Amino acid sequence: MKIGSPKEIFKGENRIAMTPESAKHLQKLGYECVVQSGAGDNSNFSDKDYKDAGVKVLKNADQLWKESDIILKVRGPEKSEISKMKSGQQIISFIWPGQNKLLLESLKKKKVTVQAMDMIPRISRAQKMDALSSMANIAGYRAVIEAGNQFGRFFTGQITAAGKVPPAKILVIGAGVAGLAAIGTAKSMGAIVRSFDVRPEVAEQIESMGAEFLMLDFDTDGSGEGGYAKPASKEFIKKEMELFRSQAPELDIVITTALIPGMPAPKLWPKEMVDLMKPGSVIVDLAAEQGGNCDLTVPNKMIETKNKVKIIGYTDLPSRMATQASTLYSTNTRHLMDDLTPKKDGIPLINMEDDVIRGATVIHNGEITFPPPKPKVAAIAKHINQNIKEKTPEELAQDQINAEKKAGKIQVSSLIIGACLMWLIGMYAPSEFMQHFIVFILSCFVGFQVIWNVSHALHTPLMAITNAISGIIILGALLQMETTNNIVSILALISIFIATINIVGGFMVTKRMLAMFQRS
Ligand code: NAI
Repeated sequence: MKIGSPKEIFKGENRIAMTPESAKHLQKLGYECVVQSGAGDNSNFSDKDYKDAGVKVLKNADQLWKESDIILKVRGPEKSEISKMKSGQQIISFIWPGQNKLLLESLKKKKVTVQAMDMIPRISRAQKMDALSSMANIAGYRAVIEAGNQFGRFFTGQITAAGKVPPAKILVIGAGVAGLAAIGTAKSMGAIVRSFDVRPEVAEQIESMGAEFLMLDFDTDGSGEGGYAKPASKEFIKKEMELFRSQAPELDIVITTALIPGMPAPKLWPKEMVDLMKPGSVIVDLAAEQGGNCDLTVPNKMIETKNKVKIIGYTDLPSRMATQASTLYSTNTRHLMDDLTPKKDGIPLINMEDDVIRGATVIHNGEITFPPPKPKVAAIAKHINQNIKEKTPEELAQDQINAEKKAGKIQVSSLIIGACLMWLIGMYAPSEFMQHFIVFILSCFVGFQVIWNVSHALHTPLMAITNAISGIIILGALLQMETTNNIVSILALISIFIATINIVGGFMVTKRMLAMFQRS
């Protein structure tokens, strides 16, 4: 079958859903690939790049829609595109079915099959197809760059001959995919970053990126399903606003990304908060498309308030990094095609039993199949959780006491058995042998105790460089070198060689492991 990508007609959209690289993968799945001439120009993929990748370049959109069995797009189809569709065609693009009922109805009339990239469930198996995350990642990064472009100071603090520069203070509201990307970017540029989210489980992620998690003294869990949040209560939002009010006067940049799926963006940065900010401060409102987290945000525009605070409401941040965005998006779509083509024969199989495909398919052969049932993975997890009865703290303490008692009993019995064995061997073995044997047993025991509690991941580097055993081997071997017996000398030499490899190798592995955690 033929997969085609037209040029996006939405104003200002620079991305393309199929890159020359992704086309190569699609061809391996048995598909023939076509692209509209010039479709990749704004993402820096020329017609020649496509031709070199084995893609047929078609003159215009009409030809592309006519020839293609499957259409890969970024933005949902517009009226002029819907009129070009033919019955039985398959469309894969962002659709936002919850917010676009009319679009669904028009697509249904065309008797097509539609997979919405925004409906891919956020489960681990589907991460490679999660276009929302890959685009939000870019948006978070670009938000910091846009803020930096408007901010009149360095992000990082500096002490120079010309004076002291304080670091910029940035607050990121909502630590989902976009928020975490913004935190990482701002932190790497040297700013002081704080963040707040209704989901307490993200505190660890925020802190692991070197930012400060602003704690709210409120006993609630804002976690919903599938890594998304659930709506916060009025009391919670009130407390949250108090927290932001106390932060606003000292902040230089605020990046808001708060969102509850399928709902208008919560208003978290009202005018009074903007008024509290210093002149020259910048707000980037990523939720502009869903109404904005800030009251004053104007979608697709940057405005400046009377107190000289700039508010950026761009909704096309991924498109502003079109090459990167197209590369990631096309990887997401080709992975979806991979799942849709299990036989790699160039014929898609829409298996509605598959959680990911079912979730993404919003129209199947002209029938609306949105909304999908909840993913089975979550249902299974819930079922398992229900079967596990949670233990009270008293029960847990009792369990621990029982475990300690059991371990104590095992140790005492092992000691008694060991002592009996020693006595038995001592009865028959020569006393010289017994001396060495007892030292050997004790060494084994001490060595075991030392090594047992070291985490497995650390065994190779840590044990190798602090390797007492290697040291003892080298020492012992050096003492044996004096002997007149050639065999003993050669064995001692080999021992020194092997133990040295162990120690030097350990240092090298440790150096590599440490390098993995260092920034270049
Ligand atoms: P996400 O769902 O992963 O993250 C949203 C976060 O907001 C969640 O962690 C949630 O717990 C948090 N949140 C919800 N209510 C909150 C509240 N009252 N206070 C604090 N935190 C709250 O969403 P993702 O993928 O990170 O996207 C974030 C935003 O960026 C969305 O609005 C999305 O539409 C937007 N976006 C904007 C783009 C642009 O060009 N402007 C491009 C891509 C995404």
